[in-house]
Amino acid sequence: MELEEAKKNLQKTGYLDLKIPAGIDLVAEIKKLKTEKNAVILAHYYQDAAIQDVADYVGDSLGLSQQAAKVNADMIVFAGVHFMAETAKILNPTKKVVLPDLKAGCSLADSCPAEKFRPFREAHPNHLVVTYINCSAEIKALSDLVCTSSNAEKIVESIPKDTPIIFAPDKNLGKYIMSKTGRDMLLWDGACIVHEAFSIDKILDLHKKHPHAEIIAHPESETHVLKVASYIGSTSGLIEYVKKSDCNEFIVATEAGILHKMKKEVPDKNLIPAPIYQNVTCACSECPYMKLNSLEKLYLCMKYELPAIEVPEEIRKRALLPIERMLEISK
Ligand code: 13P
Ligand code: SF4
Repeated sequence: MELEEAKKNLQKTGYLDLKIPAGIDLVAEIKKLKTEKNAVILAHYYQDAAIQDVADYVGDSLGLSQQAAKVNADMIVFAGVHFMAETAKILNPTKKVVLPDLKAGCSLADSCPAEKFRPFREAHPNHLVVTYINCSAEIKALSDLVCTSSNAEKIVESIPKDTPIIFAPDKNLGKYIMSKTGRDMLLWDGACIVHEAFSIDKILDLHKKHPHAEIIAHPESETHVLKVASYIGSTSGLIEYVKKSDCNEFIVATEAGILHKMKKEVPDKNLIPAPIYQNVTCACSECPYMKLNSLEKLYLCMKYELPAIEVPEEIRKRALLPIERMLEISK
């Protein structure tokens, strides 16, 4: 009965709200379920450390979609946010794709609803539409090309110079790509709440205290932060950079979950999370959506194979094309 009730409430709660027996070894149980169900766990670097440690693959958005495109397992367990799990489902319509918490959304995806984007696109019929992967399946279905933070420059450069471009939904990444490519793009007015939380004044103050540190930033950050950064890149790019740089100290302007992997890769380097305007719980920036996932919810979604991601077939077929084009260009 408890399970039936939890299933009924799933749309409201976002996850199966069930009690887990006390003393259960969640990591051992998750590993058991992985074998029993022939499941693979794909996790983003912004997930909690415990989730990253139990995953089969941890990566950035491009790496995760490349993995999803070649998965052999019967079930994909996506420890990330909704648009990532949805992308995995678009690539694997016959496989089960589960997400620990359906409410793990994204401010960027939310900023670009299809009912507003469709007329915007129709008002610019000569423009090619490039969308950042952080958007819904419906928006991907309205796009010509999808990109991630690690291939956006390459994707935009693959488009003939005389073709006008709409870039959505992240205006900060869009502005950065405009500065890199010299292309004048029509930008959608969306932003990531996590990357717009950084305080440039506090970053500069911190830099004064650590004058040898390099500031490194994700391109979803605002222009004034990117201007002071020694390196700008996707989560994977940032991790690679701290490994290869001769510097021993970094101020890291992206979601704090990345520090788990970075600390493993460069245990002797000093990694300082970039400060935010408000510091209520911690001085760093955390994604409230990514952090909705927990080891408990991961266990429950694997055990009961819920919540599962579904994408209407018409939308899925149209959304697949720009994703496949991106994967092809990124080879
Ligand atoms: P990448 O991991 O692709 O850099 O993206 C960061 C992000 O915001 C994911 O939501
Ligand atoms: Fe979306 Fe920003 Fe969270 Fe990434 S960090 S999932 S872009 S809100």
